[in-house]
Amino acid sequence: MTEVSKEEFGVIPGQGRVEKWKLKSQSVTVEIISLGCIITSLKTKDKNGEVDDVVLGFDSLEGYLTNPRYFGAVVGRVANRIAGGKFAVDGREYQLAINNGPNALHGGLKGFHKALWTCEGTANGVRLSRTSRDGEEGYPGELSVTVTYSLLGNTLTVQYHASSSQATPINLTNHSYFNLAGHGTPDIYDHEVSITADAYLPVDNTMIPTGEVRAVDGSPFDLRRPVLIGPRLQEVPGPGFDHNFCLSSPGQPQEERPCARVHHQESGRVLEVSTTQPGVQFYTANFLDGSLRGKGGATYPKHSAFCLETQNWPDAVNQPQFPDALLRPGEEYSHTTNFSFSTS
Ligand SMILES: *[C@@H]1O[C@H](CO)[C@@H](O)[C@H](O)[C@H]1NC(C)=O
Ligand SMILES: *[C@@H]1O[C@H](CO)[C@@H](O)[C@H](O)[C@H]1NC(C)=O
Ligand SMILES: *[C@@H]1O[C@H](CO)[C@@H](O)[C@H](O)[C@H]1NC(C)=O
Repeated sequence: MTEVSKEEFGVIPGQGRVEKWKLKSQSVTVEIISLGCIITSLKTKDKNGEVDDVVLGFDSLEGYLTNPRYFGAVVGRVANRIAGGKFAVDGREYQLAINNGPNALHGGLKGFHKALWTCEGTANGVRLSRTSRDGEEGYPGELSVTVTYSLLGNTLTVQYHASSSQATPINLTNHSYFNLAGHGTPDIYDHEVSITADAYLPVDNTMIPTGEVRAVDGSPFDLRRPVLIGPRLQEVPGPGFDHNFCLSSPGQPQEERPCARVHHQESGRVLEVSTTQPGVQFYTANFLDGSLRGKGGATYPKHSAFCLETQNWPDAVNQPQFPDALLRPGEEYSHTTNFSFSTS
């Protein structure tokens, strides 16, 4: 049985009331706000029954209104980077807002994470919906989107649905930063991770995939067996992991697959992720620098969290050999990601 309740979280002048929804099962409590569908809190038990909040975030609305690191938010219309902010659909070129060096990142200047969504309770959770108007942030077509969070026992299910009046690229993900030792713990070096991917996408110096799909064999990106994050980070070029791992190949049917497992030995907490998406961006919070004041006054330094952003492959709109990223009129975009929390 999941208890579903709501309260007011705050008010955005000129925009409206922000609701906070709480989903509570025997083992997990999740809080979600209507601004950006943000998961503000996710409490789970450790192996001794102690409860901790395992996602990074802020105490109040003010923090989320700036939220430069997208804590907990649903990112769209297209998560991650599009090279040059440019793409073409059926021969017509589109230019998006540029907000990350030369590229478009995470849906633009006012992406889905800055929007107030309409909420509706469901049996085990909450459904959030919004309409993204034709031309919003440069994207073609009016897009109707819903994101549904459901909690059943120890599994949080996130379902994304969308339809559009014109062909548009779309790629929704949510962007929770986890630390299974509890948010505010200084690093994730003692977490053990495995990702069920035989290949990953190497990137250029602006973090756009080069187009190569490279086997993980014999590289630091081989996470098919559990590895400790701390030592492995020292073998990865650059500041850490910020790479797309390929869960399926272009043209393979969309079906649910196990994606990743993270285990924190001391607390015993385990997070398992499965998804219908073709990729997952594994990110080790390389750009956190301790300057943000988080929940309960916590600071969040570099490598103090990890993200598992299930997604289509980055820059897929510009790379014909990548999985198709276009949603056409009459089609339905539909993806599900499950996050299961347990102890071992
Ligand atoms: C998520 O979990 C639900 C309930 O256990 C299951 O029916 C569904 O197939 C799972 N989906 C994915 C993507 O793992
Ligand atoms: C979405 O939110 C859930 C719950 O906080 C989290 O486990 C997951 O990592 C998030 N998904 C992505 C793709 O970041
Ligand atoms: C999907 O998201 C990824 C990463 O979040 C992004 O890089 C990619 O460009 C998006 N896919 C498409 C089809 O644009």
